[in-house]
Amino acid sequence: MGSLQGKTAIVTGGASGIGRAAARLLAREGAAVTVADVNETGGQAVVQAITAAGGKAIFVRCDVSRPAGCREAVAETIAAFGSLDILFNNAGIIRRADVLQTTEAEWDQVMAVNVKSIFLMSKYAIPHLAAGGGGSIINTGSGWGLVGGGDAVSYCASKGAVVNMTRAMAIDHGPQNIRVNCICPGDTDTDMLRSEARQLGESDETFLAGAADRPLQRIGTPEDIARAVLYFAGDQSAWTTGAILVVDGGGLAG
Ligand code: NAI
Repeated sequence: MGSLQGKTAIVTGGASGIGRAAARLLAREGAAVTVADVNETGGQAVVQAITAAGGKAIFVRCDVSRPAGCREAVAETIAAFGSLDILFNNAGIIRRADVLQTTEAEWDQVMAVNVKSIFLMSKYAIPHLAAGGGGSIINTGSGWGLVGGGDAVSYCASKGAVVNMTRAMAIDHGPQNIRVNCICPGDTDTDMLRSEARQLGESDETFLAGAADRPLQRIGTPEDIARAVLYFAGDQSAWTTGAILVVDGGGLAG
């Protein structure tokens, strides 16, 4: 029997990359999973893969930067599975540009998808987590939530916010037995990482080779990050809240 048998999870950004790997791993461990994403084709494919493997999953098409989408993701989860225990706030976007090149609309969009979504999803999810006696919220930060990076000012601002709002939420909701933790991945092979190469005008090959320059000498796989999600989702981390876990092949070690 899996370690998450009887639990229900929402994974935002679950149609691709890290979210997809996490949705599949949580489902393999027995959780019923809601894949919440703007990408319907990708999201339905993840649900199909989970159900084909004997797991339980639904897809909810929603924009997590908007209140209606977040309300719907939570409501459809409760309607389908009856409870909610795990919220993986993972949807994110990146704009590789400095202050001068970033438009106000791009700034607002990055902050809305990367930060406001966590506020909104948590607002609607927390009453259900509390009703079930507690739960686990996991936020996807970034190494660039802890140190700065070039040509990514809106992204760095957004991920710094994710790191510190994790701590604030851990303080507020610990008494309800709701744990709130953050994973800060290093460069991980996903559509987002490859889109950065395009935005910077570099070939995938050059960009990915540069990203692999770290102590463990490779970039991450989505599954590397999903295993950290599983740790925070279940009882293995029962006394861990407000933690910021760097999973990056040693990239920030030096
Ligand atoms: P990805 O591009 O493969 O997946 C992101 C998913 O979020 C996509 O399925 C996309 O459709 C969804 N999404 C975007 N905007 C949305 C919205 N408004 N509403 C609902 N869904 C939306 O990218 P990846 O790499 O898997 O990213 C996941 C998280 O990991 C992001 O928060 C990202 O910032 C973070 N991260 C990724 C790193 C990497 O190297 N890939 C490194 C550090 C952090």
